[in-house]
Amino acid sequence: MSKNFYQQINNCLNELKINNLLKKESIIITPQNVNIEIVGGYRVINFCSNNYLGLANDQNLILEVKKGIDDYGFGIASVRFICGTQKIHKILEKKIANFLCMEDAILYSSCFDANCGLFEPLFGLEDSIISDSLNHASIIDGIRLCKAKVYIFNSNSMDDLKKRLNEAKISGSRNIIIAVDGVTSMDGIIAKLHDICELANEYQALVIVDDSHGVGILGENGKGSHEYCNVIGKIDIITGTFGKALGGVSGGYIAAKKNVIELLRQKSRPYLFSNSLAPCNVVAFIKAVDMMVDCNHLREKLWNNVKLFREKMVSIGFKISNSNHAIIPIMLNDVKISQKFTYELFKKGIYVMSFFYPVVPKNKPRIRVQISASHSENDILYAVESFASIGKKLNIIK
Ligand SMILES: Cc1ncc(COP(=O)(O)O)c(C=O)c1O
Repeated sequence: MSKNFYQQINNCLNELKINNLLKKESIIITPQNVNIEIVGGYRVINFCSNNYLGLANDQNLILEVKKGIDDYGFGIASVRFICGTQKIHKILEKKIANFLCMEDAILYSSCFDANCGLFEPLFGLEDSIISDSLNHASIIDGIRLCKAKVYIFNSNSMDDLKKRLNEAKISGSRNIIIAVDGVTSMDGIIAKLHDICELANEYQALVIVDDSHGVGILGENGKGSHEYCNVIGKIDIITGTFGKALGGVSGGYIAAKKNVIELLRQKSRPYLFSNSLAPCNVVAFIKAVDMMVDCNHLREKLWNNVKLFREKMVSIGFKISNSNHAIIPIMLNDVKISQKFTYELFKKGIYVMSFFYPVVPKNKPRIRVQISASHSENDILYAVESFASIGKKLNIIK
């Protein structure tokens, strides 16, 4: 027992508390949905889930999970290469690869794991990775696990990317890799993949896209940011999650050329040393990917909701990111104000989260709103009305 260690932990917690940086978890007692209930009897409209298409509580997917348990059992009790590969895991890999127009795919327990298992087996000391400054924590951690030289470019700035590409080229790298989020998770900015691919072509660089917030919703067929930006076939590696538009359940994947996937199966540590995806979820994911082909109506509803919310919020004077995505940050400049704002919204039955350092840069606290196809027009208008009245009360808008 080291007293010092436990004292050090308490000091860290106190510091977070003093600086208003402690994150609290609300306990939800209903399934994930637009209307949820939180312990204490609070019924709220949920504006902070990644449930973009409203499939987290979809009855067809729930039926598939039940069927999956009947047909394939509950636990798999193994990693993939020992005795954890059922035919459904192979079917899902083929399906997600086909859906994304990639050669092959490999499953992980989450996209966090996928990103952490991606870089180390493929890249080393001789390589240079150029990473967008707003990349998700899992890309950052994945890159940290490999020994490649790292360059950071200002988010979505092609001028800055070009500078970093030049630096990497001069350093004589074996491979130059550009790693971006298809959509930045805190700002909802869609990567300029068309321009990125042109630069990649010029510099003979590889392009890696984490499309966790793009898959299922962006592009005419919901394939994601590469479809939206018209660069299908030009991205080398795509990672993504089943935990957002595709049903909201833990699970992730990497899609790439066959030989890349084969090497990852041999060497990627979160794949080799962690349990296989739960069979019932795999069965439901197969259905979810199938459903993507027929859910244009849900995507249309989502984008109508997004447009309505964005237009109304701008018209009443809020500062939001200039994008078309369902992630909509309301910039507030002050941590305390953003927390107060969130609390006032909660009292009105609107459930959103405020985000502050270290999740977002110190000077950019915000409330992040996320829109779903399941929101009704009334839900959106009520949220806008609530933002307006609290915004006036707190002197944020006139
Ligand atoms: C861009 C991005 N990548 C990866 C992840 C992690 O996904 P998962 O929940 O499947 O681990 C997230 C989730 O927050 C994300 O926003």
